[in-house]
Amino acid sequence: MMRALPIAAMALLCLAPRPTAADPLDVAVGKALFDRMWVPSPASTRGSDGLGPLYTARSCAGCHAGGGGSRTAARPDGTIDPKALVVRLGSDAGPGDPVYGLQVQTLGTAVVAPEAAVAFDLVPSPDPALGPLVTGIRLDALAYGALPPATRTEARRAPALHGIGLLAGVPDDALNALADPADHDGDGISGRLGSGRFGWKALEPTVESQTTAALLTDLGLSTVDRPDHAGDCTAAEAACLRAPHGDGGHADGVEVPADALRTLVAYVSALPAPVAAPDPRGDALFRSAGCAACHVPELAGAGGRPVRAFTDLLLHDMGPGLEGGFPEGDASRAEWRTAALWGLGRAVRHGDRLLHDGRAATVDEAIRWHGGEAARARDRYRDLPPAEAARLLAYLEGL
Ligand code: HEC
Ligand code: HEC
Repeated sequence: MMRALPIAAMALLCLAPRPTAADPLDVAVGKALFDRMWVPSPASTRGSDGLGPLYTARSCAGCHAGGGGSRTAARPDGTIDPKALVVRLGSDAGPGDPVYGLQVQTLGTAVVAPEAAVAFDLVPSPDPALGPLVTGIRLDALAYGALPPATRTEARRAPALHGIGLLAGVPDDALNALADPADHDGDGISGRLGSGRFGWKALEPTVESQTTAALLTDLGLSTVDRPDHAGDCTAAEAACLRAPHGDGGHADGVEVPADALRTLVAYVSALPAPVAAPDPRGDALFRSAGCAACHVPELAGAGGRPVRAFTDLLLHDMGPGLEGGFPEGDASRAEWRTAALWGLGRAVRHGDRLLHDGRAATVDEAIRWHGGEAARARDRYRDLPPAEAARLLAYLEGL
């Protein structure tokens, strides 16, 4: 017989949806891997070596502490912690630079020079009405020469991972049913599926593929699916390709064997989803302003379970103001995946800056940056009487 739980504990169990019934041992082992500080090869700790040779952080938790997202609050001197954002590279042809690869690697093992020192300053906004200051990227001490003129930079914030296993469980059919690429219903909103559903450009199809991509690009660790032991090193970075690596001594001949990857994915997928306080008035304002057309309050997840993430996981053209530096996967420069709004309250309480590159200081600024398919909803928000706008913002900050 089940032991009776106190009412409060029962309410909590009902409210905090845990995505899957993963094996608790897998989840515990996966958490240790998520927090593990990897070390370069060769090392005496055989299980944890293989880092880099070029890398951006030493652990998943280095960017997603506690499974959360980047801590992008501005510091008193008007800069953002250089570890809070990653700098991606690309051109009109797509992601990547011929010499520096997909991402500016700010760290290197003893035998390889880091690619650059990165700093993020708050600089005057191109349109002060949207927000006075936006994120500016500074690259100093570029170790492999200047970037070619065709290469553009783009800062990216790490999203919080809470509830991601639930998002992974939403069937493709449910997303296809929301997509309206040719805007047949004439509402000005034409969401479409990206090449996947994770990342700001909906590039990666599964938590596992996103994780192997992170292992490769952020930590320089190989997996069965992405076996390049030198991570994001390019042919132009010869010392990096020659440096020692950890593939030889591990199972499966890669730095992160299949079994370890499985537990890492189990942990990430089991992170419990954020839970919002009910607010019917705020909810009504959110819907009547047209926000819910993209930030769909509830999706039907695996087995029909409600997933209250406030996203359709689709790509939307957000207009020239939000255009990034390069197209990626199926997404053009101006297309972004609808940001999930669950957990927004936590980011706001931390003082984190918002949108893909942390350009918005507040929720109000984040909404004002919306354009393109979201222009009508943004205008409805701007036209709300002040008391109603405040009510809507309070609702969002309670998510
Ligand atoms: C250097 C910082 C950094 C590290 C280290 C890092 N991530 Fe991330 N993570 C990001 C960024 C930035 C994004 C957004 C990626 C994009 O849009 O290109 C992201 C996105 C994700 C997503 C998709 C979230 C979503 O809402 O779509 C998952 C899942 C994820 N990371 C898991 C991991 C795991 C697991 C690890 C360790 C293997 C890891 N990350 C290591 C920065 C990092
Ligand atoms: C056409 C689709 C669409 C509509 C309509 C829309 N949004 Fe968004 N929203 C997005 C996309 C896409 C992003 C991510 C953009 C980026 O980061 O560059 C986003 C980001 C956000 C963010 C920032 C979240 C974060 O974590 O950085 C907030 C807050 C937000 N939207 C609130 C709203 C509100 C409130 C409304 C209604 C007034 C609204 N949105 C209408 C697509 C939409």
